[in-house]
Amino acid sequence: MILSGCKAGTSPLCILAHEGKTMAKLTREQIEALGLSPEHLPRHVAMIMDGNGRWAKARSLPRALGHRAGVTRLKGIIRLSSDLGIEALSLFAFSTENWKRPVEEIDTLCSLFVEFFIKEFDELHENRVRIRSLGDISKFPPRVSGLIRDAEEKTKANDGLKLNIAMNYGSRDEILRAARLAAAEPGGVTQESFERHLYTADSPELDLLIRTSGEQRLSNFLLYQASYAELIFTEDFWPDFSDERYVDVLRQYARRSRRFGGLEDTKQ
Ligand code: IPE
Ligand code: IPE
Ligand code: MG
Repeated sequence: MILSGCKAGTSPLCILAHEGKTMAKLTREQIEALGLSPEHLPRHVAMIMDGNGRWAKARSLPRALGHRAGVTRLKGIIRLSSDLGIEALSLFAFSTENWKRPVEEIDTLCSLFVEFFIKEFDELHENRVRIRSLGDISKFPPRVSGLIRDAEEKTKANDGLKLNIAMNYGSRDEILRAARLAAAEPGGVTQESFERHLYTADSPELDLLIRTSGEQRLSNFLLYQASYAELIFTEDFWPDFSDERYVDVLRQYARRSRRFGGLEDTKQ
């Protein structure tokens, strides 16, 4: 356990120990002290943040408190991604299938999204995070969609972490939409025109997809983009997915041999 006995700020190994610290880019030495190297970090990470309900159930708490704990964790994961210099982070917050849930739970999630955007916006913006939504956010009530559009607009010129929040997102919808839009162009559907219409068009190729909570499925998330992504499934419920666990997953990623259909020495 790398953090035991840490006094915040006293050693590079303690850099994850500051609860409530603000964002600050880590130096190469600090990244290496975590057992990582800038060259072997993914450029684009996606996360299926699953297990809030089971986290709450295990504590005999209402599901809403599981979602609240999940949102709290979200902040730390965004911060660490930005501090590590990861280029893009795509988070699955609400799927096209999540409308099947009870209306009270959907309301709770909407309120938590609003609270998150209001509370965290300034710090994200100051740290040059660029916020984008993936999916058709017009299905959400205006208090949610308006806030997201506003955050997108205000942060659109930022050159820091590309933070993609998937809300009312489903890959099948995204693929059909991109195909229709590309087909309506004079050149028709080509790989280039199709990919240009994906929600993730301006993020780098997806390198790593993480799903928490022990489930080993994609649940309609980034099906096309995940073609050559490394998949890592962890047992923790999302609210327990700590910074240390994230670093551990990034170490696992760095050890993977990515061949893209070629041979060992043709790594991209
Ligand atoms: C993920 O946690 C959050 C959303 C889908 C919004 P869940 O709510 O799916 O938690 P479990 O899978 O029921 O534990
Ligand atoms: C996927 O989790 C969606 C999000 C994390 C937002 P679900 O909990 O909805 O997925 P299933 O139902 O287990 O496949
Ligand atoms: Mg779930």
